[in-house]
Amino acid sequence: MPIETPTIVRCTNIRKTFGEGDAKVEALRGVDLEIQAGEIRMLMGPSGSGKTTLISIIAGILTQDEGECLIEETNLNQLTNDTKTRFRGKEIGFVFQAFNLLPTLTIEENVSIPLLLNHEEKEKAIEKAKEKLIELGLQDKIGNLPAQLSGGQQQRVAIARAMVHQPKLIVCDEPTSYLDADNGVKIMTLLHDLIKSTHSTIIVVTHDARITHFADRIDHLEDGKIVKTHHNGKRPISL
Ligand SMILES: Nc1ncnc2c1ncn2[C@@H]1O[C@H](COP(=O)(O)OP(=O)(O)OP(=O)(O)O)[C@@H](O)[C@H]1O
Ligand SMILES: [Mg+2]
Repeated sequence: MPIETPTIVRCTNIRKTFGEGDAKVEALRGVDLEIQAGEIRMLMGPSGSGKTTLISIIAGILTQDEGECLIEETNLNQLTNDTKTRFRGKEIGFVFQAFNLLPTLTIEENVSIPLLLNHEEKEKAIEKAKEKLIELGLQDKIGNLPAQLSGGQQQRVAIARAMVHQPKLIVCDEPTSYLDADNGVKIMTLLHDLIKSTHSTIIVVTHDARITHFADRIDHLEDGKIVKTHHNGKRPISL
């Protein structure tokens, strides 16, 4: 008998508009999305279709104009700013489209940031950060600044930073965009294994058709709406 998997993300009728008058852009025009715990979920769609806007709302970085988004039954918009920051810092990891690594910090310092924000002691945080970097194959780069790494290596640092505090939900914006085919598949294999071993959930925005077979389900966005959801035939793991 199939075991019920809990829903981790439930978005209903999300709308978001940027700008006013002639400059007005309806980035999201009524998005419903439900993601089960343990899923690898991908979002695809043309440039400007609203992918980054949607995952930023899910991660609590942006606020929608209308609709509701629950993360494990928690409505981030009903929390005070402090509680929201704390919730986000503990439960959500974000890999940005442009990495957002701090250039003057070493890679292990960069990766330790979510732990420090969660009040972990510095020495311990750096230790855990190093472990994560080793897990991601970057042992030779410890002590380096981000600029001393290739694009693909920086991408792995960004992934390490998003995962180091073991969040329940990881949101990745184009995690393979700077990588060639082989390295893109390698990164996605790493993400897949990390997700399945830590029982977390991941949302991946991607243009990269070479990694879509890793997804449990794929949503296609067009013009601010989900126009199609494709099941990959794999059942999300039961926790
Ligand atoms: N801060 C902003 N101010 C004004 N318009 C914005 C802002 N952020 C996004 N938009 C607009 O909203 C629409 C959706 O943008 P979004 O970044 O979500 O698209 P995307 O699907 O992630 O595109 P890409 O594949 O190029 O990253 C676009 O028309 C974009 O120009
Ligand atoms: Mg984007």
